[in-house]
Amino acid sequence: MKNTFGSAVTVTLFGESHGGAIGAVLDGVAPGIAVDPAFIAAQLTLRRPAGKIGTARHETDHFEIVSGVFEGKTTGTPVCILIPNTDAKSKDYAKTKDLPRPGHADYTARCKYHGFEDYRGGGHFSGRLTAALVAAGSIALTALASKGIRIGTHIARCAGVEDRPFGDPAADVRTLAGMPFAVLDNAAADAMRSAIESAAAAGDSVGGVLETAVTGMPAGVGEPWFDTVEGLLAHAIFSIPAVKGVQFGGGFDMADMPGSTFNDAFRFDGGKVVTATNHNGGVNGGITNGMPILMRTMVKPTPSIYRPQQTVDLAAGTDAVLTIEGRHDPAILHRARVVVDSMTALTLWDLLAVRYGTDSFGGGK
Ligand SMILES: Cc1cc2nc3c(=O)[nH]c(=O)nc-3n(C[C@H](O)[C@H](O)[C@H](O)COP(=O)(O)O)c2cc1C
Repeated sequence: MKNTFGSAVTVTLFGESHGGAIGAVLDGVAPGIAVDPAFIAAQLTLRRPAGKIGTARHETDHFEIVSGVFEGKTTGTPVCILIPNTDAKSKDYAKTKDLPRPGHADYTARCKYHGFEDYRGGGHFSGRLTAALVAAGSIALTALASKGIRIGTHIARCAGVEDRPFGDPAADVRTLAGMPFAVLDNAAADAMRSAIESAAAAGDSVGGVLETAVTGMPAGVGEPWFDTVEGLLAHAIFSIPAVKGVQFGGGFDMADMPGSTFNDAFRFDGGKVVTATNHNGGVNGGITNGMPILMRTMVKPTPSIYRPQQTVDLAAGTDAVLTIEGRHDPAILHRARVVVDSMTALTLWDLLAVRYGTDSFGGGK
């Protein structure tokens, strides 16, 4: 029942949606990494719901770094980030104690924790906890940026509306930095927003696909067989609530391609080995090959919808109909995008620290 991810650099996650606070502890952090509260706050803003396409729950996400940072730099001791919950309305969730929401973790949490779980607002399984991952991920993103490694995610598809795919990943990743609704084609953004609004008006929800690019990763990082780049990234991304699929490079769409087309031909470019295409998503044999890492993440439609749904009454032992109360997102993926960036950063920071040592970052490099 451990809530820790990582090997050399670890992140531990704690809290419940309607408890006192949520938070994260980073360990294995090199001393001397810059920690900018303004950057952390800006990343948290990208995750926060906004306007008609987000839940009406409005958390300020004021955070406190209670340890491991002194005079704007990491000290090398565990970094603990605390984010108090301030806008919880627990009475809305009395029903879901015995009437589990289809598609949510209410029923499976009951099976695992024998009824002792804090069910309010999804408890420990709430998307709310991803705020702590984003805060921790901001420090990881800063650590990676100091090595020229950048991460960007856009909404590749939402409710059937497609954004354009990555063109020049390095340029696109720069464009996406700090973008509130992360798409590469503005026309697609308008169509996606109206699809989310229509779903919300109909008491329903929508999902989609996120596409991530990592640029600047050196070749030779990854720990075969079991801690491969793909393996650890998938592990990290599947930790994010509502993620139901992860694929790399061309992914399932290229399953029917012959090897002669799928293979990424090597060539030299200014003395550096590059590939002509990137169907393998920057990874061969679980190890980075120096090309951008390309990953796609399927985010399902929000389970809490405002239409009556068939469920069970666990107290009465009967079938039941649930009409959900509380405040919910009609779509998750536009908020999950920065969570994907954060988990990607935490994973790659860890893999780099395994390869080159924790002190290869910060002041010890
Ligand atoms: C940023 C974010 C926000 C979320 N908001 C909601 C929400 O408002 N309502 C809801 O039912 N689920 C929401 N979820 C998804 C649930 O937490 C998730 O579906 C649930 O824990 C079950 O896990 P699973 O979908 O991975 O099986 C959110 C997830 C994320 C990442």
